[in-house]
Amino acid sequence: MDIQELSKWTDEQVFAKTGKHLSSLQKSILESILHHKNFHKIADQNGYSYDHVKKEGAKLWKLLSGVFTESIEQSNVRSILQNKAGSTIYSFGDSSLIISNHKIKENHVNICRGNSPVAQDIEKRSYSVPVPNEVHFVDITTAPELNCNYGRDSEISTLKSWMVNDQARLITIYGLSGIGKTALILKLISEIKTEFDYIIYRSLEHLPKLRNLKDHLTNFFAESPASSLPEIIDYFRSSRCLVVLDDVQHLFKPGHLAGHYLTEYKEYRHFFQQVATSSHQSCLILSSWEKPGDIETLEKESQSTKSLKIEGLGASAKEILLHKKLQDESIWDELIQRYQGHPGWLNIISATIMELFDGRAAHLIQEEELFLGDIEATLEFQLERLSELEKKVVQWLGSQDEPIAIFQPYANLELSQNKFWQIMQSLNRRCLVEKVAMDAPAFQLNYIFKAYLVQKLKNK
Ligand SMILES: Nc1ncnc2c1ncn2[C@@H]1O[C@H](COP(=O)(O)OP(=O)(O)OP(=O)(O)O)[C@@H](O)[C@H]1O
Ligand SMILES: [Mg+2]
Repeated sequence: MDIQELSKWTDEQVFAKTGKHLSSLQKSILESILHHKNFHKIADQNGYSYDHVKKEGAKLWKLLSGVFTESIEQSNVRSILQNKAGSTIYSFGDSSLIISNHKIKENHVNICRGNSPVAQDIEKRSYSVPVPNEVHFVDITTAPELNCNYGRDSEISTLKSWMVNDQARLITIYGLSGIGKTALILKLISEIKTEFDYIIYRSLEHLPKLRNLKDHLTNFFAESPASSLPEIIDYFRSSRCLVVLDDVQHLFKPGHLAGHYLTEYKEYRHFFQQVATSSHQSCLILSSWEKPGDIETLEKESQSTKSLKIEGLGASAKEILLHKKLQDESIWDELIQRYQGHPGWLNIISATIMELFDGRAAHLIQEEELFLGDIEATLEFQLERLSELEKKVVQWLGSQDEPIAIFQPYANLELSQNKFWQIMQSLNRRCLVEKVAMDAPAFQLNYIFKAYLVQKLKNK
């Protein structure tokens, strides 16, 4: 059975209940969503506008909710249909396989998505390996495929020690967009999978309601609907579960200080708090651009809440340049330093070096002014999320030559000392400013953002 067949099965259920088949666009939307495509891609592929596809999508979820008597949305359609059909979709690159089993049972084998083994082989392994006492259930099918994963030994060892030795219950991994949070988590999962009975990865990019997320987790944890437990925390107590929630910044209000929950998503805060403060044997990992204040508070109160700020890759970033086939190895250290070992930025810059200079990295380094090119869009995207006062302070920091002492009042900012501190704290939680070791605490703007603001002003 493949995704087309699941779609056919769904259509049959719809026909049996309504006497009507799904339209071809509805089928195409369903199959595309099962393949993790977004509405923009579906619109492009089907020659419709984005708005039209979105509207049709909403109608389809409503129709399926009626047919299956369950609230179905884009974020949960895959898991609900899998469950209803008593099947599991297993994705490998472009191909997918549905294994007729509630979950994939694994012992020492993880889901080898990067290497795309043939589906039949995986199916065989899922069944033929004798099931030892320990059985691990892993679902990372919705995680992005990140082919390269260099370095990060010290981060992995810190995280492992928190999870295994300290029994950490809530871990927040935070850092700039593209710094490698998701890549790190996937590497961690591959190394720590035997420590847990259940491992599941979900992104919050499409803002699932907490209720839907919990239903989804329940579907994954429960052996059968009849044996489901009342609360997620009950599974966290009865088994060792690892839940990864990626892209958590989507829960926070843009235009406000860092980490303020959107009104309709405030219940996530209570869920995180419950996980951090209840007694259980599981772990919830959050990954975010910004670290919320309540997590900071929990961390101060309890040993079982931890957070890790993710920085650049350091010397391991050379592997990226090697992989990208850049030349002029003698200047790679400087290139890495200029772009702070940030893997996302180095990927972008490497592509530019290939495009413009046929791989000769030295050409880019000759220029004194930092080249940003396609990085600008990602910087702008992050700056757009700031509150108006944060934007004002960031602009001002961009014009400062030296780190600024935190205790000094800055008359030209027209901000009270308290407000100023609050804004600096928020910028720090977004990893946009860095603390500098001086006589008194001082901060400076991340210099890539600074270069961007200076160049933007100059080219106005
Ligand atoms: N350790 C690494 N080795 C090689 N490439 C890496 C590494 N970490 C990240 N990358 C690459 O950098 C890019 C960004 O990584 P990733 O998606 O993990 O960042 P992120 O912090 O999760 O970003 P966002 O917050 O925007 O989701 C990806 O293309 C990824 O393959
Ligand atoms: Mg990510």
